[in-house]
Amino acid sequence: MDVMSAIMGRRSVRRFKPLPVEPEKIETLKDALIWAPSAGNLQSRFFYFVYNDEVKKKLAASALGQKSIVEAPVVIVGCADLTVGDYYRERGIDLYCIQDLSCSIENMMLAAHALGLGSVWVGAFDEVAVAEILNLPRHLRPLAMVPAGYPAETPRPPRRMAPEEAIIEIR
Ligand SMILES: Cc1cc2nc3c(=O)[nH]c(=O)nc-3n(C[C@H](O)[C@H](O)[C@H](O)COP(=O)(O)O)c2cc1C
Repeated sequence: MDVMSAIMGRRSVRRFKPLPVEPEKIETLKDALIWAPSAGNLQSRFFYFVYNDEVKKKLAASALGQKSIVEAPVVIVGCADLTVGDYYRERGIDLYCIQDLSCSIENMMLAAHALGLGSVWVGAFDEVAVAEILNLPRHLRPLAMVPAGYPAETPRPPRRMAPEEAIIEIR
């Protein structure tokens, strides 16, 4: 799949078939996460791959009961690594680690789509609850949960702004 087809064809998928994701596809998702750009190449992000049903139920409860988290065979929890502050101070903590994580998550969602998998970025959750459920060290801030698996729905593309609504060109 070429890059623009992946970018434009990817949709947020919230319903999943009860099928596991093959190990080689999981490895590709991991590569997509790891090979994203990052500030100073410090790679200030960390990931948990959750397959356990009990843990998924707890994560869903921390996220307004979003069913996609329970239904997906795997949920990737993306964390910002706040130790970046040792090097980049406030800008590292307030900005770079969040941007690093976001680059990785988008990379992974595009790779998932190219592999025939669906995924959705879940941002609406209680960070403190997720940190407790996963027993996170204090330097990891959970910022994105991504349920992923084989799609059981084909969502229509939601409207996007026209380029002129979002972009000014200065020549
Ligand atoms: C930062 C962020 C947080 C989001 N949080 C949620 C969420 O909690 N639950 C959900 O179902 N979708 C969530 N989404 C998915 C958006 O609703 C979706 O990307 C948007 O409607 C555009 O649809 P598309 O991804 O199919 O293009 C989130 C997306 C982003 C980028």
